[in-house]
Amino acid sequence: MKLIVTGGAGFIGSSFVRQALREGWAEQVVNLDKLTYAGNLENVQPVAEHRGYKFVQADIADTGAIENIFAEEAPDAVVHFAAESHVDRSIHSPAPVMQTNLLGTFTLLEAARRHKIARFVHVSTDEVYGSIPEPHEADEKYPLQTSSPYSASKAGSDLLALSYFTTYKLNVSVTRASNNYGPYQFPEKLIPLMISNALEDKPLPVYGDGQQVRDWLFVEDHCRAIRSVLEKGGAGEVYNVGGNCSLPNLEVVQRILHATGKPASLITRVADRPGHDRRYALTNAKLTAQTGWQPEMTFDRGLALTVDWYRSNHDWVKRIKTGEYRQFYELNYSQRAD
Ligand code: NAD
Ligand code: DAU
Repeated sequence: MKLIVTGGAGFIGSSFVRQALREGWAEQVVNLDKLTYAGNLENVQPVAEHRGYKFVQADIADTGAIENIFAEEAPDAVVHFAAESHVDRSIHSPAPVMQTNLLGTFTLLEAARRHKIARFVHVSTDEVYGSIPEPHEADEKYPLQTSSPYSASKAGSDLLALSYFTTYKLNVSVTRASNNYGPYQFPEKLIPLMISNALEDKPLPVYGDGQQVRDWLFVEDHCRAIRSVLEKGGAGEVYNVGGNCSLPNLEVVQRILHATGKPASLITRVADRPGHDRRYALTNAKLTAQTGWQPEMTFDRGLALTVDWYRSNHDWVKRIKTGEYRQFYELNYSQRAD
């Protein structure tokens, strides 16, 4: 199988590219990435010399470039990760989020339609369901109720993708995953930010009361789920992908302090995120019933692996926090001042 993977230099996309080539189930992978602040070719260094791997730098919202790439590569399938993925940035500057998440997805769907691509997986998020009150869990028919520019853009792109099945019979499936964690995650997101700050004895900024609940999914489990959907998912279908691991943020931070051996005094309360969703919760029943997929990683083991990775790859973090990405990193960090 030949794949175009968009956003393959980012956190989840690079894990998917490494996994697909390592396991050998995809013979060829074209990594199509703009290399924004979040895209980093170091993330795909382990497969850079693989004979089935190719990198193409392009913006998914650039119609001409995307047309040429689809004509030249003629892939069997597209797995679409590329996005502006950070909620805080989407609140601070929504324009690039709309450009990439909405217009970029539209551009890819159009190219896939014109080139009669056999399969398209659109990677989305549980944030499209908004905050879920206790004791409920969202299934795929749960109403969409978005809170941030990021989640609204993802819900819009989900609906657009599904419309290409309904209207044009493009073989599209949509996945909606919960919060991912693991190696190579940009240290603006909760877990890598807290781990890297703890390792540097810096404050750990907890938003509001820290009792917001997220469901944690190890990135490699997510990538296996996407492969299952790619191979066994139905056209026009949506699949939730959760980690079966709901935890309040404060508890996640406390576990990180325990895993890094650092004191609770590093915890710093800061102003809450505007429009902050209180609780996400998903059921995976449909995906498990149709493909047999289930999350395999326990949170304690996944967190220990992730802490080890950040400890051993401190240079990777340092290059982001102090190198060419610094302005992006600091822009985000300054938003947290109380
Ligand atoms: P990320 O921010 O780490 O990586 C995004 C990648 O997309 C980067 O390599 C970036 O360069 C690329 N990109 C951005 N704009 C682009 C454009 N216009 N053209 C081409 N490439 C572009 O993101 P991530 O955390 O790996 O998330 C990947 C996908 O998974 C996103 O669609 C996100 O909405 C979804 N998702 C993420 C999570 C999570 O917890 N991180 C959970 C559920 C769903
Ligand atoms: O639920 C899936 C989503 O998970 C994905 O669609 C997004 O791409 C991904 O960024 C993530 O969104 P969140 O907003 O949930 O992730 P983030 O890591 O930014 O925040 C997780 C929780 O931690 C959230 O409740 C906000 C809180 N938080 C976050 C940061 C960065 C803090 O308390 N302090 C922080 O410094």
